[in-house]
Amino acid sequence: MANSIRVASAPFDGQKPGTSGLRKKVREFMQPHYLENFVQAVFDTIGGGQGKRLVLGGDGRFGNRQAIQRILRMACGNGFSEVIVGQGGILSTPAASCLIRKYGTDGGLILSASHNPGGPDEDFGIKFNSANGGPAPESITAEIHRRTMSIDGYMTVDAPDIDLDEVAESLLGEMRVTVIDSVADYAALLESLFDFDAIASMLGPGRFKMRFDAMHAVTGPYARAILEERLGAPEGTVMNGEPREDFGGGHPDPNLTHAAELVELMNGDESPAFGAASDGDGDRNMVLGRGGYINPCDSLAVLTANAHLVPGYARLSGVARSMPTSRAVDRVAEHLGIPCYETPTGWKYFGNLMDDGRITLCGEESFGTGSNHVREKDGLWAVLFWLNIIAARTQPAGAILREHWQQYGRDYFTRHDYEGIDAEVATSLMDQLTTSLPTLAGRTVGDLVVETADEFAYDDPVDGSRSEGQGVRIVFEHGRRLVFRLSGTGTSGATLRLYCESYERDPTKLELDTQRVLAPLLEAAESLAGIARLTGRVAPDVIT
Ligand code: G1P
Ligand code: ZN
Repeated sequence: MANSIRVASAPFDGQKPGTSGLRKKVREFMQPHYLENFVQAVFDTIGGGQGKRLVLGGDGRFGNRQAIQRILRMACGNGFSEVIVGQGGILSTPAASCLIRKYGTDGGLILSASHNPGGPDEDFGIKFNSANGGPAPESITAEIHRRTMSIDGYMTVDAPDIDLDEVAESLLGEMRVTVIDSVADYAALLESLFDFDAIASMLGPGRFKMRFDAMHAVTGPYARAILEERLGAPEGTVMNGEPREDFGGGHPDPNLTHAAELVELMNGDESPAFGAASDGDGDRNMVLGRGGYINPCDSLAVLTANAHLVPGYARLSGVARSMPTSRAVDRVAEHLGIPCYETPTGWKYFGNLMDDGRITLCGEESFGTGSNHVREKDGLWAVLFWLNIIAARTQPAGAILREHWQQYGRDYFTRHDYEGIDAEVATSLMDQLTTSLPTLAGRTVGDLVVETADEFAYDDPVDGSRSEGQGVRIVFEHGRRLVFRLSGTGTSGATLRLYCESYERDPTKLELDTQRVLAPLLEAAESLAGIARLTGRVAPDVIT
């Protein structure tokens, strides 16, 4: 059985991986040959599958299981020797990264559209991660895209579905399919990094109360196994812990808008001491202390400043943040005397720095924090890092944050997203802004004077590659800053992201309302970019 067969197909437009893989509406993915063409393009780009090994799994969204069966048949048809699949087809993104590294595979395919909604009318996605466990670099994703434009067929086999629900090894033709426990290896990795005893004695029944909102997405089984089973947090600590194909109809994005249930709980009278949430595929995190949320830029800075309290992070080689992320972590790095790198948006740029031993911790303003333990951002990892610090300092999260601001000052930060705007309008807005850049320095906008204005380009210090067009930066006096860029992860229209930050040192002004503090800068953004004038939108769709 299982002789390779070649199925003829023709190229599809638009199979260009974005910030994080190929993401499209489910309907587009369901067209015959659509998924297969892309997967074959990946296999061709890595030099064919002969004798290679792959990790495969996804966030459980609508279409996950069927896609896994089709990819298994293709892997067999392409001569792979083994595919390691998460039980039930489930692997969180950080867990997939962990498995690629631990079992030394040639890479992995992760099926997810991250925080985008799931269901027949929503989104699906697929991403190739390289042998280091991280998202494939731009050179590879560009080659995959090129390949999709000329593809005329793919290899597969005619074989029945594999049972994904039993942890077992089986053969598909000559290819071994290893269905493994989705959680165990990942949980063991986290246990090797954090002081589980200290966290467990804090979380025990009747003590410190916390809630983790899995948002009906992939982290449910991971959080239950780690927080409730291993660390002894009472049952019910994990809320919305059943993964669902449509994420319960919600938008599995851990921010103040979409994790409203948790936010309300944290603001209530009997609020837990600590709250956290993760996204569709488990790589994002949001953390909240009693009554207040911790901005991800600040979170990265606090983790860096307190890393010496965590067993796996006694020594940091350096840190990195994406360009639009506030400079809070830069101040800590300077204090510690370690380098701080500024990279374009997207996790793939951190990988080279980690592989080269230049950084230990990194993060993005978009609720992503991580370390060199894997090559993806990691939601539960960030939550355990915070719990470890809270246990070591015996102080609540809010107090730790306030002390941090007293020591380093505070970088007020916000991001305003304008979603689903007409792609042409968005492009012309960015074009007009980019054209105006050379004339901006020295200009006064409202009460603010522009110091520098440019488009961010990144020269990778490890492989020497250059990434251009990575967002417009406008810096005003006193380090106030605006950044504009278009999202690379959306599936319909365009999303404009406006990032805004301002640094405050005055100890009496560290606990003001972020949107009020940043209002003058947001006004400057409007007069420089004309968002309302060009898009007709008077307010952003999401504010974080
Ligand atoms: C967004 C975030 C970015 C993150 C990516 C994948 O990308 O802004 O920081 O790495 O999702 O989670 P964007 O839509 O802005 O291109
Ligand atoms: Zn994600």
